[in-house]
Order: sequence, then structure tokens, then C-alpha cells
Amino acid sequence: MMKKIAYTALLLTLAFTWFGASAQQKADATKPKKISPDLFGIFFEDLSYAADGGLYAELIQNRSFEYNPADNRDWNSMTAWKYQTDGFGYGTISVETAAPVHPNNPHYILLDIQDEGQKGVGLENSGFDGIPVKASKNYDFSVFLNAISDQSLPVKVALVDRKGKELGSSLFTTSDKGWKKYTQQIHINFDNDSAKLVLLIKAKGKIAIDMVSLFPEETFKNHRNGLRADLAQVIADIKPKFMRFPGGCLTHGDGIANIYRWKNTIGPVEQRVEQRNIWNYHQTAGLGYFEYFQFCEDIGAKPVPVLAAGVSCQNSGGTWRIGSTGQKGIPMEEMKAYVQDVLDLVEYANGPITSTWGAKRAVAGHPAPFNLEYLGIGNEDKITGVFEERFRMIYDAVHKAHPEIKIIGTVGPSPKGEDFDKGWKLADQLSVGIVDEHYYEKPQWFLKNTQRYDAYNRLRSKVYIGEYASWGNTLFNALSEAVYMTSLERNGDVVRMASYAPLIARIGHTSWNPNLIYFNGSKVFPTVNYYVQQQFAANSGNEYLPDVIKLKGEKAALDTTAGVSTVRDSATGDLILKIANAGNAPVSGEADLSKIGQLPKSAILTVITGNPDVKNSADNSQAIVPQSSVIKLQKKWAFTVPAYSLTVVRISGREIEKHK
Ligand code: AHR
Repeated sequence: MMKKIAYTALLLTLAFTWFGASAQQKADATKPKKISPDLFGIFFEDLSYAADGGLYAELIQNRSFEYNPADNRDWNSMTAWKYQTDGFGYGTISVETAAPVHPNNPHYILLDIQDEGQKGVGLENSGFDGIPVKASKNYDFSVFLNAISDQSLPVKVALVDRKGKELGSSLFTTSDKGWKKYTQQIHINFDNDSAKLVLLIKAKGKIAIDMVSLFPEETFKNHRNGLRADLAQVIADIKPKFMRFPGGCLTHGDGIANIYRWKNTIGPVEQRVEQRNIWNYHQTAGLGYFEYFQFCEDIGAKPVPVLAAGVSCQNSGGTWRIGSTGQKGIPMEEMKAYVQDVLDLVEYANGPITSTWGAKRAVAGHPAPFNLEYLGIGNEDKITGVFEERFRMIYDAVHKAHPEIKIIGTVGPSPKGEDFDKGWKLADQLSVGIVDEHYYEKPQWFLKNTQRYDAYNRLRSKVYIGEYASWGNTLFNALSEAVYMTSLERNGDVVRMASYAPLIARIGHTSWNPNLIYFNGSKVFPTVNYYVQQQFAANSGNEYLPDVIKLKGEKAALDTTAGVSTVRDSATGDLILKIANAGNAPVSGEADLSKIGQLPKSAILTVITGNPDVKNSADNSQAIVPQSSVIKLQKKWAFTVPAYSLTVVRISGREIEKHK
């Protein structure tokens, strides 16, 4: 008994020291305070073609012939594919499962070519809305072939435009029987946004085909099986402190069988377990846990994986229409193995290469640990007995085995209500270090709720706002978020992390709007909300200074269309002022910079402003973008910022030092 009490006390101490809580009940609004160094990050969910057809640079759609009607009623193994006999060849084509490359990847195509005709017989893939290729660039093609005929077979792979004009091609010959991976590099001679890939067997014979793949040679950081460089760069440019992944609803899945299992997503891509995406498409898992961790490392974001809390989404089967009754728990006899999977993820990320799962990370090319610090358990689940029982099992096991890991609990899908209250109650009972709040609301909600965290009890769990957005992509929406974000900085002692949601969406395949970034096959369109997120993440600090900026007149009272904050980044010594104004009139005030030491003469001022109803779109992608200039500084810096604007002033710490 004594031991248990001592252990609980230790957990409590750990839970509250991790997050630097003092014994105060409320924020002291007048003193400088330490705030979270991880405040602004991103949340990546494979939603709206964010992974396949999005960030994952694979250009072939349905490369493994695993699409099926459970993904989407109209889909099957031949979706995005066409049987190609244009040169008057003929034979038979069938989808087979008898002798696959790997049992996890059961479907493949069998061609029995009776006459190759003038061009050969084979397959054509239309990619995701066409395959974008660029002149003078190279593309890495690969395919698994099983040449069943005795003789070796000549194969041609080409990228062609809609009229069949060749943009680049390569020839090779099969060797040996049995499944073998063939790789070719294709040099492209003409730009094209909607090419097709044609794979032709130019002889009579029998051949099995699987895992037809095409990547640009240049991926983000040039990793194999990598990410789309332009899109990844736009995400990296936010300078997020962390990345939550792989979902959202995707994580807890549409029924138990659809729960996202991280172990299914690592290892050779042809051996990964593909599955239906809850957002009505297909996950190849080509962008899997290794690639997520690697991307986090590449962009300097701490990884925040979220695992299901042993239950499926309460909306499984579309049951939001009948009261969200779709939550199902993993059977208790399977929970031990499930809990072990969770523990194994920590080992995969952080374990030595001599450990079972650390060794798999090393084999994948990353012997060094990924430094996992945070782990999400559950995603806005309905807080039921079934949930609680499983959450406790996972929570206790991780806490015991890995007290160094900061576990993030969940408190339902809304900023208040039954699940919110029950989730917080459970968090209190277990002393969960941090809980995940979600809210999608009108912009006015954000403006009215800027004091939400001022009164939060500093002794309770800390908060991660894992998903939030105002309903829209206009400048006004973005500014309502900006005003709110100044309040998150003010409360950065209790709000440890926040991430806008969702992050990216492919135009023409959006399952959810608004999003932070839109894209098509060849272009990326950041929204105004994106630029606001970027200003806050790239200009964050770990110390909040409450008494630097004072607004004049009415704005100083409780008019919450404006918000201000001042933070200092102790690593650089930079001081950053933010003035967000979602109101229809300019706002004036003064920043007292006299206490920061000898002032440098100038600073960088960045403003986002314009017509509040305007949004960036594919047709007008630069409608509103940040504008930067150099300003002169004075000890008492008097300012007037425009109506509908976000102003950020960054004063270089190096310059402050120089002038001391
Ligand atoms: O961000 C989109 C969805 O919103 C997430 O998948 C889910 O967690 C929330 O309901």
C-alpha cells in the first residue's frame, strides 16, 4: 500500500514538474513567465489526400493494385489503371492473389500476351489527376515483375502526354523467374502536368506485375521513398516546434479492424499492410511511421505520434447520424498485445539498436534515436467505460515503463460538453500530464474566448490544443486565430502546444474544409491562416513579458478584437512583439522597450493585412501575403497598426547584445 502511495506521489510530481507548473492556481498577469518552448506546431492527418496523392511523393495511384470497394464503392484493383493494347496486340489480363510478392500485399496483375502487336501489351496509370513531370528532371521508376515464361521479356516504360507523345522512356529486359524488383531512371524532355505512365511488355509471354512506382529523383532532403519537395518545404517553412500525426479520426479508425497500427507501416513498402482510409480512400502506408519520424527530424519538429486508446472512432460506420454509437473496444484478451505495441513504439523511436524495435529503426537507415518525448493516447474519443478501461491500461503501462514520456490524454471533440468534462475528470484522477482539446468554431468564438485559459487552474493537467480552426480561410478568419494565439502565448504556462487543423488538402479531393494549405499535382497554395501560423511558430519564445505592449483607449478594455503579446527566445535573445487586430479600425498603442537593455536602432516588422473577406486561392494565391520591412526603434515605440492586420516585430538579440 505504502509503495502504491509513494508511486502515485512520484507520478504526480513528475506530471507537474514536466510542465514546469508552480503552485499557483491562476496565471499571474503581471510578471514575466516561462512559457512552453513547444507552443506552436502542426497536425498532419492523412485526410483529403494528404499522404497518398499528397505529401508522399509517389506518382502512381494504386501502385499495388490493392484498391477495393471497401475504400470507395467505385474502386477496385484496376482503378487508375487501363489495360494497354493500342498497338493491336492482344492477350488476357487478370487480377490474381495466388502467389503475391508478399502476403500483406495480395493483389497483382497477370498478363498472358498472345501477340505483342506493334507496341507491346501492358498497363497505363493515370496517377493522381495525371502525373506531373518536368523537363530535364529524372524520375525513379521501379516495379516488381515475375516473368513466368521461360524466355526473358523486353519491357518498355514511358511517360506520355494525353495524346500519346513520349516525354521520356526506358527499356529493360526481365531476368530469371520469380518476383524481382527492377529499377530504371527516366529522363524527361518536356514539361507536362497530366502525363500517364505506360508499361509495355514487347513480346509474347506470361508475366505478373506488382508495385509499379514512380518518384521524382528530387524528393524532400532526397530521401528514398521520400516526400514531395515543394509541399514539404512549405510545411517546413512554418518552422513548427512539433508535428502530431498520423490523425485524427484516421488514428482511431472506422471500426476496430481499421485502427491505425503503426507496426503495419514500417519496413519494405511492398510488405506494409495497406488499408482503407476512414476518409473514404486508401492508405498505402508508403508514408509510414519511419517516414513520419524522419520528416519531423528534417524540419526540426518534435514527433507527437497519436495512438488509438484501444477503441475505434465513436462515429464508426457513419454513426454520428444516430448519436455516435460506433465506438468499439479492442477485446480485453487482445489488449495486452495492443499495450505492448504502444510500448514497442517507444522502443522503435528511442531504443538502442540492440533492442528488437530499435534494430528495425536502424535497418531502415536511422540508428540514432528519434528522441520521442510526447505520445498521444486517444483522439477526441467518447469517454465511456469501454474507453476509460483501455485508456487506463495503456496509460499505466507507458507511465511505468517510460516515465520520461509525456503522455497526452484526450477530452472529446469540443471545447465543452459531456466528453470534455468526463475527459478532464479522468485526467484529474490519473494526473495526466497534458490533455488534448479540440475546437472548430466561428471566428467570433475565438474572439470571444481569448480569456479561456487565463482562469485555468495551473495545478491541473496542461493543455495541448491538438486541433483548432475558425470556419474559413478569409483574412478575418486568420486574424481571429491570430488574436486567439496571442492569448495562447499569454497562457503558455498552461497551454503547452497548439496546432491548427487540418494541415494540407488536395484540391478536388477535400474531405474537410477549411485547411491550412491547399495543393494540386504541381503547385502549393498557402492560405492566409498559414501565414498567421507561420508568424507565430517562426517567432515564438520561451518567456512571456506581460507589460511591454499597452493599447490605447477602448482597446485597452475588454475589446477582444485585438490581442497583443511579447515573448523572448532565450536561445537567440530575440524579443518578439505581436499585435493582432481583427477589428475594423486601426489600433494604437505603445511598446515600452526601455527595460530590455540598450536598444538596437532597427528591427524587422512584418504585417499581414488587407480586405477581411479575401482569401488566397489557386487563382489568386498571393492575394494576402506577409510584407516585411525594417523599422527604427525607440525606447517607447508608439505604433498604429491597420484595421484587420497582424503585426510582428522581431528585435534581434544579437543586436541587443551589441548595444549593451
Ligand atoms: O481535423 C479533422 C478531424 O477533425 C480529425 O480527424 C478529428 O480528430 C476531428 O474531428
